[in-house]
This record gives sequence, structure tokens and C-alpha cells, in this order.
Amino acid sequence: MDVISVIRTKRDRGVLSDDQIDWVIDAYTRGEVADEQMSALAMAILLNGMTRAEIARWTAAMINSGERMNFSALTRPTADKHSTGGVGDKITLPLAPLVAACGAAVPQLSGRGLGHTGGTLDKLESIPGWRALLSNAEMLDVLDTTGAVICAAGDGLAPADKKLYALRDVTGTVEAIPLIASSIMSKKIAEGTGSLVLDVKVGSGAFMKNIDDARELASTMVGLGTDHGVKTVALLTDMATPLGLTAGNALEVRESVEVLAGGGPADVVELTLALAREMLDAAGIKDADPAKALADGSAMDVWRRMIAAQGGDPDATLPTAREQHVITAPASGTLTRLDAYDVGVAAWRLGAGRARKEDPVQAGAGVELHAKPGERVTEGQPLLTLHTDTPERFEYAIKSLQGAYDIDTQGANGFTPNPIVLDRIA
Ligand code: URA
Repeated sequence: MDVISVIRTKRDRGVLSDDQIDWVIDAYTRGEVADEQMSALAMAILLNGMTRAEIARWTAAMINSGERMNFSALTRPTADKHSTGGVGDKITLPLAPLVAACGAAVPQLSGRGLGHTGGTLDKLESIPGWRALLSNAEMLDVLDTTGAVICAAGDGLAPADKKLYALRDVTGTVEAIPLIASSIMSKKIAEGTGSLVLDVKVGSGAFMKNIDDARELASTMVGLGTDHGVKTVALLTDMATPLGLTAGNALEVRESVEVLAGGGPADVVELTLALAREMLDAAGIKDADPAKALADGSAMDVWRRMIAAQGGDPDATLPTAREQHVITAPASGTLTRLDAYDVGVAAWRLGAGRARKEDPVQAGAGVELHAKPGERVTEGQPLLTLHTDTPERFEYAIKSLQGAYDIDTQGANGFTPNPIVLDRIA
């Protein structure tokens, strides 16, 4: 087998054979196929696509590049959730303990943020003492004793994807649906969950900017999961505006704890409950009531045990940024748009995210929203508060917010914000 013939096949819009796919993934993981050759192939895939059969084989080859976890010793059914990433998307934090409180085991192998979307591990690391890195044995122990674990995916899980994702990130080939679907699903299938709910984000703050692309990605991933015996369902959810009222690490933990305490912003509560119901249904748990588990404190109890089991202090004061800057509403009227991407870029520029994998993040940095689309604002009232430890970042962050919102001074007749859940694919 030679790599140039594999690249030429896809360059010329051909269909890769099973042998070609198995060989190229294995040879790339071993270092026999060079980065420049794999980037040529990734670009050919981005431009010319893949058949469902090619995507399925590509995914299987990535799973086979590493270890598979096994949760069969657990007494509870496993339920997992994956979001394709958005701004202010802190849902994993309240969701994992909530679903555990309702009877499932929730293994959440999560990542760090890169670019304008935040990472679950960065958020949780703002809790003093909390550890993201667990051995497989520690992970199983936390899962078994508390019902939920949120931790970093170990290096042994789909190593081909680790290498390929880093390469795609620097070669403009992240946005290929076959590559996104196989990347996400190879990790989830290797992780060994029995059921999986996908939160596929749509809108300016998401990878998928329009609903047709999101539907295609969702149905590709649902097909891959189902073929591998994982009960998989996808919700398409709105990411035109940030979720909740915060984007930034400690700011989002604070908001998640509010949700676990029975409060929090309506959209975060709605999406948390919608995903919880899907996860419980997929796991075969029929008689649980997630709204009750939020209201009666049982989800909060699991959160506290889960955080403590990973060295964190659930009672510790969360870090706050040293400096704030308030952006006020320039006119009175109805807020009709607050752009998720622009807010995500501002939070990132304030220090909540990183430009390179090895960059540190600021725990307290981010953006706080004082109004959501559909709400009335009054000229001069705070619209957004920017938080950072390094005030020289304000100017650049403010620039990203200059065209980020619209206020309709004429009463915004007929304006209704997007629903949170746009579609369901099973
Ligand atoms: N998340 C992943 O894990 N992989 C992708 O390709 C995109 C988002």
C-alpha cells in the first residue's frame, strides 16, 4: 500500500477501499505516513466528502488505533452526552450529576477549550483542588461511588484521532463533516458507553452554521453509534446566542451551581432537562423525574460528591477576575440579537480561552450577559460585563463586541427568540 495512491483516490473523487482506510489510519498513527501527506488527504476529504461506508470504516479504524474501555462491571446503565461545542455551553456540569441522581452512570470524558469555545475541563479546574487527570482505575472508582465522573480522556483512547485532530486544527480541515463525525464517534464508542445523546449546536457560535449541515452531521453520527451498538440520539440546539448569562470558566461554574440549586437561567435549565430526559430514556430508565432531582437537591448532592472525589472543594470560593469593564446599552428597546461567536471571541480574548494548546487560561476571565434576545433594555443599563486579570486585553475584546448586538427601538414587532431545541434525530 502506498499513501500517494490513497491521496490520489480521494483527490479524484474516488471511494477509498476498506484496506486503504485501515492502512492509512494505522500507518499515520505509527508515523509512517507523514503529516503533510495526511493533511493532503484530509483536504481531499473536506473537498470531496466520503460515503457513509467510508466514514464507518474510517471510524472503526480510529477506534482500533487504541484501547476500548469497559464499563460492564457497573451495576447502573451508562449514559453519555457529547456537545459539538458552543459559547457558554456549561451543560455538562449540571447534567452529569443530575442524570446520575436519576439512576444512570455518567462517564464524561471531556476536553479543553481551543479557539472561541470553552472546554469543560478548563471550567472545572477553576474549582480549587479539582483534578482532571485520572487513571482508568480512578475514573471507574469515581463513577462507581458517585454515579458520575468528568475527566480528561486518556491518551490510549483513539490515538489516531488525537494526532489527526491536532493536524486538522492547523490545516483548515476541521470543518469536514466526515472527519468531525468520525472524530467524535470514535472516542465515544471507544469509551464504551451503552447510550449516547449528542447535542449538535447550530448557529454563529457553533461549527455548523446552518441547520442542514447540522442535520447531516447529526444523522451521520447517529448512524455510526447505532451501527456500533450504542443507542444514539441527537438534539439540534440553538447556538446563535450564548447559553445562559455567562461565558468563561469560573463564571460558568457559578451559573451551573445555581442550576443545581434549583435556580439559574431558563435556557440552561431547559436544555439540561431536555438532554437529561433523552439520556435517561436512551439508558432505559423510565421512572425518573430530572426536574424533581434538581428541585429536591439530589443532583446537588451528587455534584458535591463528584467534585470532592476528584480533590475539589465544593464549598471553596470561586476565583474572580481582578478587573471589570461594563458595556452599556446605547439605546432603549428590545434586544433582538446577541451574537454567540462574538461573545465567545471576547471571552477568549479576555483570557478565558487559549490560542495554542499549551497556553494557560484565566479562571476568572469571561463575559457576563445582563440581557438575552427578546428582553427589553434601557439606554445606559449594563448590557455586558467583561472580566479579566489583565486589563490590557479589554480593548481587543471590546472590538469583537462592536457589531455583536442589535436593539430594536421600534418595539420589535413579531420578534421571538429561537427555541433552544430545534430538532431531534434518532
Ligand atoms: N470535536 C471533536 O472531538 N472532533 C472534531 O472533529 C470536532 C469537534
